[in-house]
Amino acid sequence: NCGQLRIEDDYYTVLAYLDDLKDQAILDIGCGDGNYCRLFKAKGAKKVMGVDVSPHMIKFAEEIEIANPLGCEYKVVDAETEQKAVGQFDIAVTAFVLVYADTAQRLSKFCNFIYKNLKPGGTSINLIRNCFSTKFWGNSLEKYGRKFTMLDKTEDGGFGCTVHLPLTDNEEFTVTNYVLRPSTYEKCFLDAGFSTFQFKPCQTEMNKKSEEYWKEVNENPHQIVIIATK
Ligand SMILES: C[S@@+](CC[C@H](N)C(=O)[O-])C[C@H]1O[C@@H](n2cnc3c(N)ncnc32)[C@H](O)[C@@H]1O
Repeated sequence: NCGQLRIEDDYYTVLAYLDDLKDQAILDIGCGDGNYCRLFKAKGAKKVMGVDVSPHMIKFAEEIEIANPLGCEYKVVDAETEQKAVGQFDIAVTAFVLVYADTAQRLSKFCNFIYKNLKPGGTSINLIRNCFSTKFWGNSLEKYGRKFTMLDKTEDGGFGCTVHLPLTDNEEFTVTNYVLRPSTYEKCFLDAGFSTFQFKPCQTEMNKKSEEYWKEVNENPHQIVIIATK
């Protein structure tokens, strides 16, 4: 259930904001086990690199690449502290990575890393938790395998939240996400040097499921996209 929401909501949203990937070099920052990297390669991207702070996740991604070679490259990199670029890319994606920044200072470090790795005119696409509404709090998205409980306020007046993801009927996996104020995201991206900054709504795969199925997630969106150009 939880995985299905990722495919039809997270992945769908990111792909909806990407044009033809042919001839594009894409950097996936905080790539985890490389799901997005493989998706970008499957969509025809010329070059795909995934970086993640976790050696365990990179090893996992590399093992999948060895078992089924697609040409994705992976590296262990801490996007918050790395001073050097790993390359020059047309597109840099972060999917639920900026959610680890609980302060503007930490967010700025991520923004600087994204900026550094883009070619002039390059695009940064970022999936974060919805910073405009708290309607997704509580059990409103439980039908899709998502539950959110509120934590403390962040220093900029945003908030932290615990995301509950079911593993089995009795077990769940929880992760802490931070949601800063919309103006904090805008300021950090523009301060990093980006020339444009926009929030865009999340999208849902309407072809496979009915409008009725997506009613709750469309009414209480839990995620939002930031698109910024260098
Ligand atoms: C929620 S997972 C998302 C993984 C992947 N983007 C996806 O959507 O499938 C967040 C990932 O960001 C990575 N991450 C967190 N902080 C990071 C940092 N400072 N630099 C690089 N990766 C980081 C974590 O190790 C984790 O794999």
